[in-house]
Amino acid sequence: MRKEDLTSILASTFYEGMFIEGDVYFNFGKSYVLLCRDVTITEALLAKFYQTELGNRELFVEKKHVEAILTLSGQFKKLHDERGGTAPEINISAEEAERISKMMALSLKVTLHEDYQNLRNRINSVMDAISRENKVPWDAADSLKEEIATKIELTDPSLLIECINNLRSPDDYLDAHAANVGMLNGMIGTWLNLPSEDVDTLIKTGLLHDIGKLRIPVKILNKPGPLSDEEFTEIKKHSVYSYEILKFSGETDNRILEGVLSHHERLNGSGYPSGIQVSQISLFSRITAVSDVYDAMVAKRAYKERHSPFDILAEFAFHKFSNLDIGIVNVFLEKLPLALIGKNVLLSDGRTGKVVYINPHNFSYPIVEIDGKLLSTSPSIKCLAMENFLASVDD
Ligand SMILES: [Fe+2]
Repeated sequence: MRKEDLTSILASTFYEGMFIEGDVYFNFGKSYVLLCRDVTITEALLAKFYQTELGNRELFVEKKHVEAILTLSGQFKKLHDERGGTAPEINISAEEAERISKMMALSLKVTLHEDYQNLRNRINSVMDAISRENKVPWDAADSLKEEIATKIELTDPSLLIECINNLRSPDDYLDAHAANVGMLNGMIGTWLNLPSEDVDTLIKTGLLHDIGKLRIPVKILNKPGPLSDEEFTEIKKHSVYSYEILKFSGETDNRILEGVLSHHERLNGSGYPSGIQVSQISLFSRITAVSDVYDAMVAKRAYKERHSPFDILAEFAFHKFSNLDIGIVNVFLEKLPLALIGKNVLLSDGRTGKVVYINPHNFSYPIVEIDGKLLSTSPSIKCLAMENFLASVDD
């Protein structure tokens, strides 16, 4: 379901007993929450619809079903009026409205968490199929791409960034990295105002950019210590392997093929596999490189601790990655802080605080609020990581 497929509708359109085809969403902040799908409206569901309308918010249904819904609504209204029915009385206190609002926020996060885990499981199945047959199962891969595109359209980017920053264990790296680079590629493409077809293709590039790692021995991929020269040479073959698997699977889109082949190339020629420079490196490769670097740094691996998003922003800002495309890095530096404001963060002294300000000249040390007091973080009390995804629901 894409945002362009939805249209708004009043909660009062719905009557008990109506069968609703398709999805009904509620717009919560910058995100859309699925309320129901293909169901007969019950009294309880109707109450939920009216509650969601409380804050002058509308419901959203699929455009293709709206005419049928309105026709059905007209028939039910007639029946309802003939029986002398009155509209349901909704009388909810401000406290109750607040409670409902928090419940919706929690429901949104729980749903997102479940969707993210489900996405990763499906990516794992695609990876298994590629390992077995050396070919991409396109139906499954395209459906993953579509799901990520929908999530990006319907979900507040800050919640997707929360998924990327928090929800993984070091043991399951490949599927989480594929999901995250797919999401980051899509978000960057959106932030760059690229056409939606390019955004979709970028998501696909991110999802598949590292499939060549399936040919690299796991003991090298997850080696806790430093790699030998031979092992590093082996690892560096993975982008060529990704390209080969895609070619063998019948991929013909050069944006994707170049994107995966060159995601480790760097503007100054220091990358691999070919050491190409600046204008030889495509936009899709440059975007995938930024997504890849961010996600690799924020992940905890067998051989390294994770970096906080603030340290990564600082690294980007101080041009330690000047071999990346500065235009893309700058968009990232502008948008990512917006996704971190208001989130809970774990501090090095064991406390938890809420991020209230990120200084663009000093990304490493944001100002956080703890028990109503502001604290300027510093090298002695610094942000270690964002707090667990579901713990910050009472924002
Ligand atoms: Fe890679």
